Amino acid sequence: MALAGLRNNELELIIFGGKGGVGKTSCAIATAVALAEHAKTLLISTDPAHSVSDCLEQQIGFNVVKVAGIDNLSAIEVVADEALSGFMKAHQLELKKLLETSTNLDNQDIEEMLSLSIPGIDEVMSFKTIIDFIEEGEYEKYVVDTAPTGHALRLISSPKLLDEWIKVAARMRWKYRYMITSFSGTYKQDEVDALLLSLKKTVKRIENLLRDNTRCEFIPVCIPESMAIMETGRLLLDLGKSEITPRQIIVNNVMVSDDCDFCRRRRDAQLPYLTEISQIFKDFNMVKIPMFAEEVKGLKALNHLKSFLFN
Ligand SMILES: Nc1ncnc2c1ncn2[C@@H]1O[C@H](COP(=O)(O)OP(=O)(O)O)[C@@H](O)[C@H]1O
Ligand SMILES: [Mg+2]
Repeated sequence: MALAGLRNNELELIIFGGKGGVGKTSCAIATAVALAEHAKTLLISTDPAHSVSDCLEQQIGFNVVKVAGIDNLSAIEVVADEALSGFMKAHQLELKKLLETSTNLDNQDIEEMLSLSIPGIDEVMSFKTIIDFIEEGEYEKYVVDTAPTGHALRLISSPKLLDEWIKVAARMRWKYRYMITSFSGTYKQDEVDALLLSLKKTVKRIENLLRDNTRCEFIPVCIPESMAIMETGRLLLDLGKSEITPRQIIVNNVMVSDDCDFCRRRRDAQLPYLTEISQIFKDFNMVKIPMFAEEVKGLKALNHLKSFLFN
């Protein structure tokens, strides 16, 4: 079987996720290469390990660059730290004002806010960067390569976390507003309120996109090994909590050759896991990719992988 439906016009965002080393980066890039044949495509790596650069044998950084040798394909690295510091820089004044206008009110609120701002807000900012690209609309397809499972989940659950943060901030504002209104009788919305409102909109935009399975698809990548299967199971469970239901799965590194003793033993060892995968993911469109003799590095190897992903 091959990957299905990725060329549908409505489908904009395709996210690859799974355990470390199962082939997410290879599959994401090969998919982007295939999609670029028909649509202007942006490959987005959210993995701080820079593996997209290694695999494409071309330096990809924090600015969009054209991928050499492939028309219609560009790539960028969106790393959480960078995205967050960009946001902090751009909104320094509003954030400072938010805290200042609240300091005489309730220390607990500030503590709460600061503690909430640590986990997840950086991932939200990565996702916001992706959403901004999609809304700018310069490309037709956006293919996202994630770092191992936990990271993909953080990315997916980041809107919820930001929503919590906004609630705390809004509560702080509400007290401030109450105080101003009591003193002066009126309250005029300021830049802090505007920032909170725009963040709230970002959360909604991300949630709506993630839940819309005509516009967004998550593709888990797995290999026929026990730990990878367990991790994929947990991944699907957690995706379900965010109302994301994948419909196809890539099973990579399948040993097909039986030319040598090692190959036969490896193939036999995979058999029970392949059976288990077929049972667990029986409702999925399953795409099996053979284990190649060489690593997936450079355009030739990526095109080879692409031919298996898309027949
Ligand atoms: N089907 C395959 N056959 C052989 N090597 C593969 C295959 N798929 C991926 N690889 C290699 O396995 C390693 C891990 O793949 P990668 O795509 O970086 O995984 P991930 O992004 O999930 O960590 C890389 O060296 C890659 O070239
Ligand atoms: Mg990777």
